[in-house]
Amino acid sequence: MKTVTTLVALRTETERLRQGGSLALVPTMGALHEGHLTLVRKARSQADHVAVSIFVNPKQFGPNEDLDAYPRQLARDSELLEAEGVALLWAPTPGEMYPAGYATSISVEGVSAGLCGADRPGHFDGVATVVCKLFNQVRPDMAFFGEKDWQQLAVIRRMARDLDLLFPPADAIYGVPIVREGDGLAMSSRNAYLSVEQRKQATALPASMRRAIAALAKGAGVPGVLEQLTGDILAAGFDSVDYAELRDAESLAPPGPASGNLRLFVAARIGGTRLIDNMPLA
Ligand code: PAJ
Repeated sequence: MKTVTTLVALRTETERLRQGGSLALVPTMGALHEGHLTLVRKARSQADHVAVSIFVNPKQFGPNEDLDAYPRQLARDSELLEAEGVALLWAPTPGEMYPAGYATSISVEGVSAGLCGADRPGHFDGVATVVCKLFNQVRPDMAFFGEKDWQQLAVIRRMARDLDLLFPPADAIYGVPIVREGDGLAMSSRNAYLSVEQRKQATALPASMRRAIAALAKGAGVPGVLEQLTGDILAAGFDSVDYAELRDAESLAPPGPASGNLRLFVAARIGGTRLIDNMPLA
């Protein structure tokens, strides 16, 4: 595996790799876990070469969010990626990604509104901007994202279609199902912030969501189920629930006559840590 930190070196390496077959990109912010490595394995199964980017993107963190505290462990991550057969690690500095005078932002309307977009103003602009740059820098044939961040995946798919970034966008952007711990908690780099006690309490998030989905399947009314879900999460020790909502899985619009498949989305805070999860209705 080659590790590159400058755009000049990246260009040389990606050109070399693309001559020997197809290239997949897995964008990450590092602190890698099995969720990330599952994306890498899926990418390896679909492409001849895999590039992984590790960049803790300042533009997607709000002023009071965890940019400085976000775990950074490049040496360990690099070993994990090497063992997975990754060809290229792209690990730019903030200055390489956003040189002095940087002034451009990408904003995706519609799917960015609501859910995490409402709680984290500017977050999806930061995500769209850096992912667009990563696509232009690496010029992959395909890219892999986790369904853990379902709304992020929807934003990236919309952007790729609108800006003709990957071709054909419907096939070139892969969504990979959520990888969970044995007790059901979705894997996340932020789980490392949880104390032992909070980590135990956090399992109530997916467990309560599964109960809510079972209640809906039995015909219980949506408002009552969402209220119960919020109450269950708070009773388990969470400090607040940012949202607990049903949305159309594709458009992310609130349920209505035109809705297709519905999905349950939750964000809740425990200690200083914000956890998100989503699940399809049975
Ligand atoms: P990060 O949180 O590091 O996640 C990188 C990728 O791994 C994302 O596509 C995310 O959805 C996926 N992922 C994380 N946990 C997962 C899990 N438990 N199961 C399946 N996939 C999982 O998401 C980002 O970084 C950034 O916003 C990024 C897209 C890199 C832009 O900065």
